Amino acid sequence: MKECHLIHYLRLSHHLIVLNYLICTFDKLKSVSSEDIKITDAVFDGVEVRVFEPPAKGDESLKRSVVYIHGGGWALASARTSLYNNLCRIMAESLNAVVVSVEYRLVPEVCFPEQYHDALRATKHFLQPDVLAEYSVDPSRIAISGDSAGGNLAAAVCQQLSKDEDLPVRPKLQALIYPVLQAFDFNTPSYQQNMNMPVLPRYVMINYWIDYINGNYDLAHELLINNHTALNVGQALSFRARLNWTSLLPPSFKKNYKPVVQSTGTEAIVEQLPALLDVRAVPLLADDATLARQPRTYVLTCENDVLRDDGAMYAARLERAGVPVTLDHFHDCFHGCMIFTVWPTDFSAGVQTRNSYIKWLDENL
Ligand SMILES: *[C@@H]1O[C@H](CO)[C@@H](O)[C@H](O)[C@H]1NC(C)=O
Ligand SMILES: *[C@@H]1O[C@H](CO)[C@@H](O)[C@H](O)[C@H]1NC(C)=O
Repeated sequence: MKECHLIHYLRLSHHLIVLNYLICTFDKLKSVSSEDIKITDAVFDGVEVRVFEPPAKGDESLKRSVVYIHGGGWALASARTSLYNNLCRIMAESLNAVVVSVEYRLVPEVCFPEQYHDALRATKHFLQPDVLAEYSVDPSRIAISGDSAGGNLAAAVCQQLSKDEDLPVRPKLQALIYPVLQAFDFNTPSYQQNMNMPVLPRYVMINYWIDYINGNYDLAHELLINNHTALNVGQALSFRARLNWTSLLPPSFKKNYKPVVQSTGTEAIVEQLPALLDVRAVPLLADDATLARQPRTYVLTCENDVLRDDGAMYAARLERAGVPVTLDHFHDCFHGCMIFTVWPTDFSAGVQTRNSYIKWLDENL
């Protein structure tokens, strides 16, 4: 499988070796069998997708649907690995919904904005009335969802769809699982608190970002101390208030952490890498008018996760913009917990978060 060899291209060697080992190991495990769900691979406007369809039942009306975008730092995993195959199959089964899992292209084959374009193209293709009819999907009951880097793509796709005046069908919901939403501040309280947390330490997240936006690893240290968004960086100034965590986060998240704001940094970084401030890459930086157009939103966050505050700040901004938001925070969970629910890592946290997420979809979709 392609993703098992990516390690040769990336410099995150140690960390990725471990993750790839896990992904490949899971992949060899037998999937939980479920003859009922029909699984087919298709191509939506040039983008590969895997479609999970529950059986049609005689007189039944149209089905609900979820477009799912998997995580893995824009560089790892696949709709076809058992981790995501199982999750989507379980969702199709428990929600009696058609699930479309997007097989967007990954780093190093492509970088931003291609992952985003793939996710957007596949989603827009699916949202056409004739395609929805083909899959017996109710156009008024569609959710866009994803975890981690997939949550980033899901949020960015939702924002773009909300700006598209000609769209005949719009998503009813978005559901974001520990999403990564910004590269402006790598010193939010959750980044400070969890900088050495296994699974996703801060330097690894920064390197995923650098790979995604096609930057140079030499920048890692400047990003880490927020030199790219220092007060002398003119382009960053107007965005500062949009992720002001001292006003967006609750005291239980802020604790005693202090903002890290450099007065003098390096302006050339955002000039060379405009994606750092491009809302298609960093949906948390979107303006209020865009946020106000977003559908009802679910955000799942984990306490032991550098990305906790990305999700929590997005939830807070959407709420202030008038969007109904559910922030589902798990105190004892870590990044990635939802997909690690099968042996040998049968963490109850994984099952707990997955059930909570599916329950919200069931009640709201
Ligand atoms: C951030 O929020 C705090 C508290 O509401 C406020 O005092 C500060 O001026 C804000 N900073 C920016 C850049 O908006
Ligand atoms: C941050 O930027 C300042 C000003 O350009 C520079 O002097 C300093 O070396 C930078 N810090 C790092 C870690 O590169």
